Amino acid sequence: MDKKAAVIGAGNVGATAAMRLAEKELADVVLIDILEGVPAGKALDLMEAAPIEKHDAKVAGVSGDYGAAEGADIVIITAGIPRKPGMSRDDLLSTNMGIMRSVTEQIAKVAPEAVLIIVSNPLDAMCHVAYETSGFPKNRVIGMAGVLDSARFRTFIAMELGVSVENTHAFVLGGHGDTMVPLPRYSTVAGIPITELLSPERIEALVDRTRNGGAEIVGLLKTGSAYYAPASAAVEMAEAILKDKKKILPCAALLQGEYGIKDLFIGVPVKLGAGGAEEIIQIRLTDEEQAALNHSADAVRKLVEDVKRLSA
Ligand code: NAI
Ligand code: 2OP
Repeated sequence: MDKKAAVIGAGNVGATAAMRLAEKELADVVLIDILEGVPAGKALDLMEAAPIEKHDAKVAGVSGDYGAAEGADIVIITAGIPRKPGMSRDDLLSTNMGIMRSVTEQIAKVAPEAVLIIVSNPLDAMCHVAYETSGFPKNRVIGMAGVLDSARFRTFIAMELGVSVENTHAFVLGGHGDTMVPLPRYSTVAGIPITELLSPERIEALVDRTRNGGAEIVGLLKTGSAYYAPASAAVEMAEAILKDKKKILPCAALLQGEYGIKDLFIGVPVKLGAGGAEEIIQIRLTDEEQAALNHSADAVRKLVEDVKRLSA
């Protein structure tokens, strides 16, 4: 392939993202983890699937050797740990913050022109850490959450109305958490806003299910969180960038006054192309929608302040 992708963290999201990148022949892939053997084993397994899946993308896996990511066009960062019993929110934040710093420091040295797609949680705060550590311009640090949250909303809309998911479109803005802002007015089926197709009560039920989408999967899996849809979401973003598609997707981007929010990564519609986040699209919000976005921004700002407090 003429493009190169590095995926950091060879766990559930990372390995699935590597698989989708390779199977779509978007790039050759390097999978990097701190674990010995695991990235190499998963990469070899993926290569052995290639004759059956009919692709010629190369997948390599290495432990800790960032030299393998040299010159990568795109880097998807999924490294991190989940919250474990007895661990406080601060413990998790400070551990993942340390991991994100060490990963971006090393990536910035070997792939200084790459676009970073951040996946690790807490997502919006991790984008700030990656942005500050890498020193990359804001258009080359982008967080994945809105594509996933919108895909969940689209799934529930299609299930409710008995229509193809391909007929659905949805926008979920804001931070990746309880305060996310699904926008029913901008969510459509074959171009028709769902506000004309569903009662306010049914829309509220779908919005609630979307907000709890991550927790619903954790409740079922018990040993981890979602990874098929998250990997698909990260790869949709990667594809838009690698193919310079100018595709508008909801992504966490650094706002500098757009939507009245300053110096904060938060989910908004973004045009993705070869330059990364090439443009933040400003859509008109009602007072109520803007208030919900402001409330979500307050929650993200609190997390970013926690990052600063824990770094002091
Ligand atoms: P996982 O536990 O399966 O994989 C994480 C991997 O990161 C592990 O293999 C671990 O060894 C590796 N790792 C830890 N420290 C590292 C370091 N310093 N360098 C390189 N690799 C390192 O977890 P999973 O399910 O893949 O999730 C990954 C992250 O993505 C989590 O933080 C999760 O919360 C987040 N996530 C975010 C979503 C979003 O919408 N933004 C959706 C799904 C997951
Ligand atoms: C999710 O929404 C855990 O953030 C992850 O599934």
